[in-house]
Amino acid sequence: MVGKKLAVVGTGYVGLVAGACFAKMGHDVICVDIDAERIVMLQRGGIPIYEPGLETLVHEGVAAGRLTFSTKIADAAPCDAAFIAVGTPPRKTDGEADLSFVYECARELAAVLKPGAVIVDKSTVPVGTGDAVERIVRKTRPGITIHVASNPEFLREGSAIGDFMEPDRIVIGCNDKASEDTLSAIYAPLQAKGYRLIKTKRRSAELIKYAANAFLATKITFINEMADLCEAVDADIADVALGMGTDSRIGPQFLQAGPGYGGSCFPKDTLALVRTSQEFGVHLRIVEETVAANSARKRRMALKVRHIMHGKVEGKKISVLGLTFKADTDDMRDSPSIPLIELLQRAGADVHAYDPEGIEQAKKILKDVTYHLDPYQCSQGADAVVIMTDWESIRHIDLAMLSSVMRSHLLIDLRRVYPPEEAAKYGFTVETIGRTGLEPHPIAQFEPQFMSPDINAFTRKAEEEFA
Ligand code: UGA
Repeated sequence: MVGKKLAVVGTGYVGLVAGACFAKMGHDVICVDIDAERIVMLQRGGIPIYEPGLETLVHEGVAAGRLTFSTKIADAAPCDAAFIAVGTPPRKTDGEADLSFVYECARELAAVLKPGAVIVDKSTVPVGTGDAVERIVRKTRPGITIHVASNPEFLREGSAIGDFMEPDRIVIGCNDKASEDTLSAIYAPLQAKGYRLIKTKRRSAELIKYAANAFLATKITFINEMADLCEAVDADIADVALGMGTDSRIGPQFLQAGPGYGGSCFPKDTLALVRTSQEFGVHLRIVEETVAANSARKRRMALKVRHIMHGKVEGKKISVLGLTFKADTDDMRDSPSIPLIELLQRAGADVHAYDPEGIEQAKKILKDVTYHLDPYQCSQGADAVVIMTDWESIRHIDLAMLSSVMRSHLLIDLRRVYPPEEAAKYGFTVETIGRTGLEPHPIAQFEPQFMSPDINAFTRKAEEEFA
């Protein structure tokens, strides 16, 4: 295979992983970012984000002479394809994806790329963005053909490199043969290994990304609601998920009940999809309910903790183990730990928190938290420990030691890391998600207000209780 010359603009999770993986596949890659500090760090061998395996892959690419870094988009001029992998944060005003970085990037690329090159959108962008980028390209370089394609990514933080190099599928959305050929050639090394390349038109590819994320977010929300029901009817969500997930039509993945989904993708993408549907006059009821149910759930976790502590959290020391939205990332965006901690603090709790990678990011968001790099120190004299993220280091806590440093032996395990019977051997009272505690509550009566379909009203109620 003859490697292609590629540019990747944006060196965040998606851009840097894509750049390093393309280099590993044999392409000649230049990663561009306007953040000079970040580029200098990368040029000196530093890695600005935490992602397992990324450092080694970047160093390998650099050593092989196939991966370079620059602050100048002009350096992308000789490339066959330039991938846009910049942020599309939700706009504060209306929640719609902010595309200004994508458009600016397209404008600058259009000005320098050679005729026949392809601008490939990898950022998650609403349907029709490719058309808008094409208009920008035509306006910037009239008379010259530069193609525009879509190639959404399906990487999970924490396992991004595996997801890129061993994908379930690769989706390329092209409205012309030339860009389809270029993208097929770029992914030829993965196709040769048997990974499937799905070719669609550009708008379909743009929608596939949102549809996949919204479906996964809905699947998680579904199992979380089943977990609530399990708690009420004395069933166990792990058994229910196993029994459901072994149906090959349902599948076992994303049926892990927890404190609600977070991260940089699901919350933002579900919201953006709802906005798009509203714009086109289509009502996506299920996605709307998923968004509302998940945000209510995240807030409700603080209520759950307070309820378990018999309504008394004022002046109590609560040790939160795990801050990031999931394990193996330093990402705090929309993490369920944020509303949990803020609401507990509002109710007067003294919150201490442990996380192996997320503290620097957490400090930017959460105030008045005492941070620790050691879970035992964090839990010293604590009235309760709340597990929020299932990091390896949290999965392998020495329960005897944890129990010995705490004041009260209350373990509130919102990720179902520890079997309650196991933790009970160390003197813990364990409360968790999706099953009753060790001393089962009497079967809950269905109170009418809990059956209200107005989840926002329920969220407001939860917030009022904390006010
Ligand atoms: C998600 C998708 O899984 C990727 O396919 C997609 O490419 C990416 O968004 C994106 O759009 O860039 P990511 O946000 O990194 O990836 O994380 P996930 O592993 O999907 O987890 C998202 C949230 O769902 C986390 O808070 C996690 O704890 C929660 N989750 C996940 C559950 O509560 N239960 C589960 O069974 C699975």
